[in-house]
Amino acid sequence: MFTAPVEDSIRRETDTPADRPQPWWRDAVVYQVYVRSFLDSTGDGVGDLAGVRVGLPYVRRLGVDGIWLSPFYPSPQHDHGYDVADYCAVDPLYGDLHEFDRLVADAHRLGLKVVIDIVPNHCSSAHPWFQEALAGGPADPARSLFHFADGRGEDGELPPNNWRAMFGGPAWSRVRETDGRPGQWYLHLFTPEQPDLNWRDHRVGRHFEHVLRFWLDRGVDGFRIDVAAGLFRHPELPDSPDPAADERTRDSVNPLAWNQPEVHDVWRRWRAVCEEYTARDGLDRLLVGEVSVPTAADQAAYVRPDELHQAFFFHLLSAPWSAGEFRKVIDDALRDIAGTGSTVTWVLNNHDQVRTVTRYDGDTGGFGATRARAAALLMLALPGAAYVYQGEELGLPEVLDLPDDALTDPIFHRTGSRRYVRDGCRVPLPWSGHASPFGFTAPGSTVQPWLPQPAWFAEHTTDRALSDTGSFWHLYREGLNLRRQLPQLGEGSLRWLESPPQVLTFVRGDGMVCAVNFGDDPVPAPVPGIPLLASAGCPPGTLPANTAAWWVGGLPTS
Ligand code: GLC
Repeated sequence: MFTAPVEDSIRRETDTPADRPQPWWRDAVVYQVYVRSFLDSTGDGVGDLAGVRVGLPYVRRLGVDGIWLSPFYPSPQHDHGYDVADYCAVDPLYGDLHEFDRLVADAHRLGLKVVIDIVPNHCSSAHPWFQEALAGGPADPARSLFHFADGRGEDGELPPNNWRAMFGGPAWSRVRETDGRPGQWYLHLFTPEQPDLNWRDHRVGRHFEHVLRFWLDRGVDGFRIDVAAGLFRHPELPDSPDPAADERTRDSVNPLAWNQPEVHDVWRRWRAVCEEYTARDGLDRLLVGEVSVPTAADQAAYVRPDELHQAFFFHLLSAPWSAGEFRKVIDDALRDIAGTGSTVTWVLNNHDQVRTVTRYDGDTGGFGATRARAAALLMLALPGAAYVYQGEELGLPEVLDLPDDALTDPIFHRTGSRRYVRDGCRVPLPWSGHASPFGFTAPGSTVQPWLPQPAWFAEHTTDRALSDTGSFWHLYREGLNLRRQLPQLGEGSLRWLESPPQVLTFVRGDGMVCAVNFGDDPVPAPVPGIPLLASAGCPPGTLPANTAAWWVGGLPTS
């Protein structure tokens, strides 16, 4: 039953000349460091850049190719750094520029690339530009760096249009002018503390090119671009025919505010900046976008050869635990995204999403960890690049029972609902010991971590994971090691083999097989022999329920 001919075969083309090695990012696995929650070196309960330096050998040992650092810029922290007040500095909460330089140097010494977050869609209301715009009044040229507009209604008391913010409430806030009277409104697709920048004003684009160069000159290897399908709005700011409900909604609900054609010119200019640096020193730089658009085909437009190098492919993350659903999103990605010459950037977890162990738990519960392990092996076997979010390698579940008064996510405070709250995946990492702070804060500190860690984090410390060969950590490490060793993994072809409906089986290159059983019953293994790596123990000839396994050789020939 498993030996039927290949159903289809998908190959990525590349335009890199044969004498030049492939850019590192094409099949890299990058570890996302959410700086606030990684490791606190100062004892103030918040992670910092010096803490990241301490943790780098741990990350290296896992076997990834680089790190992505969440925003560490000066910020009032209304959205934990995604509200940037100065794009060319480090918030004292996290360190300073010297510490950043040391971090880059350490990472490079360990062979790790450094990708930093850049937030071009909006800044902080504390940014000097916004402060200038407020102080200057309606005629001030600084207002055109943002979307200021007069309100509707007799006294301008109604917002300029009906758009809703992603984090709940209207997308407009009204300012008080210097004479103390209510005045114009400004647009913010996220919180009011994150005013949207007006990219039709050329000063904005010029500033960000300066920001890119500032960090490239300090040695970063790339940028993760926040809200990369944003930046431009419909020029007339018309009413949306279908405004989102007065509740937090997901990305891309308002086509007038997202995915406008002009954004592509920005990515072309940024790509040219990266290429200028590459031409100078031969080192490849990376632009990886958070591109939240409805389909893989929409996303493909962002990774055309002269635009972003990559874009996170979130459809894998949002697919329910089902062979059919996974198969569909993988096919879409390989067809539409790999077809552009880019590689698919797979992701199962990040700082905005419920962790896999909890997400895959199923209605009756109890399957989450097993399925999350299987999903990890599947992701690492797919052609392209992948991102691993800190704690994913420890099998951390989401913390679902944080008390209301501990929640810091603006989504909670703006919607009054816990539904989309993201604090549960951001709880500081457990490193060692049996009680909070689990080695997260500097020894001797009496300050609690910025989000409370549950007692059961004791089962998931890095110390414990490293010493238990059956842990998630060892599964990730082994998978990552094999990715380095097996020529079939990383970039290259994928061929599907016929499988029962609850199973996905594919072949990479010349005979590395990955099979995933999404069902709740064991199935016969598609390949004889002991798997090279499996997410759970496999009795001979069997692929257990909710399990993934890799084999090399022994591919059925009939
Ligand atoms: C992105 C970030 C998220 C942030 C939002 C606004 O989606 O991943 O954490 O809140 O942008 O900047």
